[in-house]
Amino acid sequence: MKIHCPVCRHDNLLNDDDIPRLLFSFQCESCNTLLSVKIQVNALNVVKTGRQRTQPGEKRNQIAAYIYENKDKLKLPVLPVLATKIRKIRNDGNGTINDVVELVRSDQTMATKILELANSALYGGLVEITDLKLAIMRLGLNVTETLITALENKQLYTSDKKSMLTLLEGLWEHALGVAVTAQKIAEQVGHEATEEVFTAGLLHDFGYILCLQALKQNDSFKVDFAELGTDEFFKLCEKEHAKLGAWYLSEAGLPPKLTGIVAHHEEIPTEESDNADLHIVALANLLCKKVGLGLRQDESIRLDLTESAQSLNLSEVQLASLEVHCEDLTQQLMAMLK
Ligand SMILES: [Fe+2]
Ligand SMILES: [Fe+2]
Repeated sequence: MKIHCPVCRHDNLLNDDDIPRLLFSFQCESCNTLLSVKIQVNALNVVKTGRQRTQPGEKRNQIAAYIYENKDKLKLPVLPVLATKIRKIRNDGNGTINDVVELVRSDQTMATKILELANSALYGGLVEITDLKLAIMRLGLNVTETLITALENKQLYTSDKKSMLTLLEGLWEHALGVAVTAQKIAEQVGHEATEEVFTAGLLHDFGYILCLQALKQNDSFKVDFAELGTDEFFKLCEKEHAKLGAWYLSEAGLPPKLTGIVAHHEEIPTEESDNADLHIVALANLLCKKVGLGLRQDESIRLDLTESAQSLNLSEVQLASLEVHCEDLTQQLMAMLK
């Protein structure tokens, strides 16, 4: 292992066997500075090299390793495709509304749902619409795309295992909340990519879906979902979820811009500090945690002090109004998508 000295920049070479534990002190052989070294274990390597140790994070690492090694065997619902196709049509200068209508028509369940939504209280006009093209025109292309993205994503949060449903529903509420909030923040700060941040919001915690699937599929984890509390679930999956989600989605061919947001939404690295999309989703994530959209609530979060709120220039008043507005909007949308 190479240990880089931040003082003299010398690379110290150390045998793996000479490393006493994950946290240790070490004297640089060039400048003699006493360095404090913390080793982060890569879950995949732990299993592959057979060097597992009995540590508190052992089960957590095994879950991640199982996912990395069984990507193709994980029984997951199909990732959203229709919304991506619609976005492509819209971004292509030659695409027309008829192309979008045809695409939606090709998925009968989706077409029916869009008609229903166009006639719902939130979007409904005075006259009932039965034609898909008119329904899409009433909603507008932005809203249509947003709703289809949400409907497609909702399918990821279903299971034949009843005892998993509480966790899945909580995760869905959080995903939708972050999507709605990210879109509202984007509008508020005059950011153009509102549909993109909506999608990123829906997918930001995709890693948790992977973990749940792994826990369900592999009996050796011995998880009884009826007994698995929220705290226990997050203890097992929180640390790895961002990395796992980003990895899986990028293997599935999703664009790096989106998987980058998934990877860094919990902690923004310095090199991403100019990434407005990432700040928007990261802030939306914190806002939803603060107001309790999802499985957990932490009212003590000070949004105004976050790097994201400051980088997006959002005032305390704006943040407070987003909190109220986004919670309402998420509940309304959730009820409509049922
Ligand atoms: Fe997260
Ligand atoms: Fe989240």
